[in-house]
Amino acid sequence: MLAFSNMRAIFLSLLFFVLVLVVAATAVSPSLNDDVLGLIVFKADLEDPMGKLVSWNEDDESACGGNWVGVKCNSRSNRVTEINLDGFFLNGKIGIGLLRLQFLRKLSLSRNNLTGGISPNIAQINNLRVIDLSDNNLSEEVSDEFFKQCGSLWTVSLARNKFSGKIPSSLESCSALTSIDLSFNMFSGLVPSGIWTLSGLRSLDLSQNMLEGEIPKGVEVMKNLRSISLAKNQFSGEVPNGFGSCLLLRSIDFSDNSLSSSIPGDLKKLTLCSYLSLSGNAFSGEIPEWIGEMKGLQTLDLSRNGFSSQVPDSIGNLPSLKMLNLSANGFTGNLPESMANLSNLLALDVSQNSMSGGLPSWILKSDVEKVLVSESRPSGGIKSTFYSLAEVAIQSIQVMDLSDNAFSDEITSTIAALSSLQFLNLSNNSLGGPIPAAIGELKALEGLDLSCNNLSGYIPWEIGGVMLLKELRLEKNSLVGKIPSSIENCSSLSTLNLSQNRLSGSIPAALAKLTNLQTVDLSLNSLTGNLPKQLADLPNLHSFNLSHNKIQGELPGGSFFNTIPTSSVAGNPSLCGASVNKSCPTVLPKPIVLNPNTTTDSGSGSMSPTLGHRRIILSISALIAIGAAVVIVIGVIGIIVLNLRFRSSAERSAAAFTFSAGDEFSQSPTTDANSGKLVMFSGEPEFSSGAHALLNKDCELGRGGFGAVYQTVLRDGRSVAIKKLTVSSLVKSQEDFEREVKKLGKIRHQNLVKLEGYYWTPSLQLLIYDYVSGGSLYKHLHEGSGGNFLSWNERFNVILGTAKALAHLHHSNVIHYNIKSMNVLIDSNGEPKVCDYGLAKLLPMLDRYVLSSKIQSALGYMAPEFACRTVKITEKCDIYGFGVLVLEIVTGKRPVEYMEDDVVVLCDMVRGTSEEGRVEECIDEKLRGKFPADEAISVMKLGLLCTSQVPSNRPDMGEVVNILELIRCPSEGQEELG
Ligand SMILES: *[C@@H]1O[C@H](CO)[C@@H](O)[C@H](O)[C@H]1NC(C)=O
Ligand SMILES: *[C@@H]1O[C@H](CO)[C@@H](O)[C@H](O)[C@H]1NC(C)=O
Ligand SMILES: *[C@@H]1O[C@H](CO)[C@@H](O)[C@H](O)[C@H]1NC(C)=O
Repeated sequence: MLAFSNMRAIFLSLLFFVLVLVVAATAVSPSLNDDVLGLIVFKADLEDPMGKLVSWNEDDESACGGNWVGVKCNSRSNRVTEINLDGFFLNGKIGIGLLRLQFLRKLSLSRNNLTGGISPNIAQINNLRVIDLSDNNLSEEVSDEFFKQCGSLWTVSLARNKFSGKIPSSLESCSALTSIDLSFNMFSGLVPSGIWTLSGLRSLDLSQNMLEGEIPKGVEVMKNLRSISLAKNQFSGEVPNGFGSCLLLRSIDFSDNSLSSSIPGDLKKLTLCSYLSLSGNAFSGEIPEWIGEMKGLQTLDLSRNGFSSQVPDSIGNLPSLKMLNLSANGFTGNLPESMANLSNLLALDVSQNSMSGGLPSWILKSDVEKVLVSESRPSGGIKSTFYSLAEVAIQSIQVMDLSDNAFSDEITSTIAALSSLQFLNLSNNSLGGPIPAAIGELKALEGLDLSCNNLSGYIPWEIGGVMLLKELRLEKNSLVGKIPSSIENCSSLSTLNLSQNRLSGSIPAALAKLTNLQTVDLSLNSLTGNLPKQLADLPNLHSFNLSHNKIQGELPGGSFFNTIPTSSVAGNPSLCGASVNKSCPTVLPKPIVLNPNTTTDSGSGSMSPTLGHRRIILSISALIAIGAAVVIVIGVIGIIVLNLRFRSSAERSAAAFTFSAGDEFSQSPTTDANSGKLVMFSGEPEFSSGAHALLNKDCELGRGGFGAVYQTVLRDGRSVAIKKLTVSSLVKSQEDFEREVKKLGKIRHQNLVKLEGYYWTPSLQLLIYDYVSGGSLYKHLHEGSGGNFLSWNERFNVILGTAKALAHLHHSNVIHYNIKSMNVLIDSNGEPKVCDYGLAKLLPMLDRYVLSSKIQSALGYMAPEFACRTVKITEKCDIYGFGVLVLEIVTGKRPVEYMEDDVVVLCDMVRGTSEEGRVEECIDEKLRGKFPADEAISVMKLGLLCTSQVPSNRPDMGEVVNILELIRCPSEGQEELG
């Protein structure tokens, strides 16, 4: 395609030259159309990806038939006078075909992607008036030849290309020029001096090049000049007098050069001038008093110079002034009161000066939209009158930057009057008091910066009313209280900085709804609680600093928090996760809260299961339900994660263990300091199967919080269950371990699984139990198939047996710590056997959080006091677990049931139903019609009593056994059980 078009171009060029020769030779009149030929050759040099020039057909006799797009003709001569191909997406070079268009007046190729240089011949087209090549990719130097025959040229624009080198001096010969635009190129060196004397010039734009040198004297001959921009070059020296004689000048932009000295005095004559920018130079001295004579000024930008002294009163005489920028100079004193007359002022920037005095009252009465007064008063010490002045309702201000001053006092609620405010920066002042709730009425506010003040009190809830807020900076104040969850309303928020305050409470999960959040800094506060897991879902987050707080628990998962820099999380001692280099204990976070005050309320440990104090129980259960819901939601996530992690690592370690444990056993089954110590309490240490089978993975019975259990057979044919403690690294010294195990070994009860012996090495501990064949109660209740379920009698028997086992343990001063249906085994006679008792004692006194999670690995059995550090753990926690177990047995439901979008906590559910007098409805459907109703209801009420939130309200195990026996034999105690 490309090759083809090139061939075509070559062919057409040849054709063209042949024709030129023919035309020249025969001197035929131009009826054989030169324009068609020229344009076709011009087109052949271009790529036209959008097919904009398809209408240019080489078979047409004339280009002036009206269907050649972008071409205009003189109707009398029938010759092309204008080519206007702006924005045609053309690529390629500007070819010489155009030379043929001898009647061309205007050539406009703006906004294409033309490349290469421009042929010097083009401007030689006689009578060409307008050349517009702006907004292309043209480069190279412009040849001096280009403007050699430009006598008729009016307008030239080469703006926004990549032209380099010097501005061709031939340009000075284009005496008809009215407009030169060479802006945004890479022209360098001196400007040909003749340009400064082109008297017809109306507009000269040389901005954004690399031009240098001084502006010569004599510019007053440019009498027609209306607009001049030299911005962003390297012009230097004084600005000569002379521009003042260009009386039509409306716009002067000399910004960002190296011009110096004072403002030339004759500018005062420019009464039509509306735009004067001298910004970013080295001008110095005062603003002359005569500035007030430039009545047409709308924009006066003197920023970033070395002006000093006071702003003259006469500045108030500029009735049209809309934008006044005096920032970054050395102005001193007050802003003159005369400025109150500037009734059209929209933007005022006097920041970074050395002024004094308060913000003048007129500012707030005017229609100013932007007020930038930051850093104007580094000397400080001014008591501002600003906030009392805000009583005047000003609806126009959109931007207000009063940062870096010495404003003091409080932000009053009158701030609500600034109803158009989009940006407010009061940072770095001495403001005190609270943030007024009225801030919520600034409905247009997008940026609020109150950082580095002495603000105190709470972050107002009403902040949620500022719904367009994108940036909120309140850092370095003395704010207290919680981060209001109403912040979730600010859905555009992308930057939130609350660091270095005294904020407390937990980080609201509502933050996770702000999907535009990019930068969050909450560092150096006293925030507590867990980091909401949902934060991991924020799609745009790239910085989240929560360092130096009291955040605890696990960091949320996900790639952001897994790779968060340590510096962003440091200084939170209870935080865990990979990023803080601290593994998380398998803790269920957020514990249930126990209200200690309720202890004193209901009757102390009454024997009767009547549930009298309805209101109290209701409130407690509500409390627990809320607490539990939180725990469960977090817990479910946690458990899933933990399960996934645990499963793989457990599989690996089990396999490895089978081998090494087998080896140790085979070496020496009896006491041996090097390989381990085996003790059987009944004195029969021989195992019948090979040692390698002792912990055979295939014989694994199950796993609990403390480890895996394997089945094996003793030499005498008895089966035993061997529990391998997975908490070995936490186990106490051998001495302590043996003492505790021996104590457990002495306990004998028909409803307890007997501990037969143990094996000790420093890295491996085994407990050897009687093997119970019938599976766990859990299995019977929740995994039993079809008709194979426990009858009422069997259930009652399990409850009673379990109660007796616990009563016996408590009598022996052993707390079970881990009562749950998985730990109640049913033997072949249907007799319950409680296992896993007392194992917590094998561990050193760890943090109760660790302990509670290790052993209470199933949710729902955990007594509330586990969560409360100040309450002592007693056997009453077993009674709570037992109560849950009772309810589980009677209802056939798990202690905590996860529905699709709901979580049901069994004891709350039963309690609620019981309070409505419909407790029978809770009884397991499988038992329908096959149970004595009053027995079942009484048992259930006993269960509720045992799950009383207050430990002292729970009966002890001996009493429970008594009650159960009464329920069995109703004749003896019916009344008591109401
Ligand atoms: C507010 O002003 C301070 C000081 O002038 C500046 O550092 C800060 O970036 C400004 N705040 C915003 C949000 O622009
Ligand atoms: C948050 O948005 C809701 C719904 O638009 C609104 O009812 C509530 O008042 C807002 N909160 C605040 C603090 O403005
Ligand atoms: C407990 O009661 C006392 C006195 O009635 C009260 O001051 C305290 O705040 C209460 N504590 C809780 C946690 O409710």
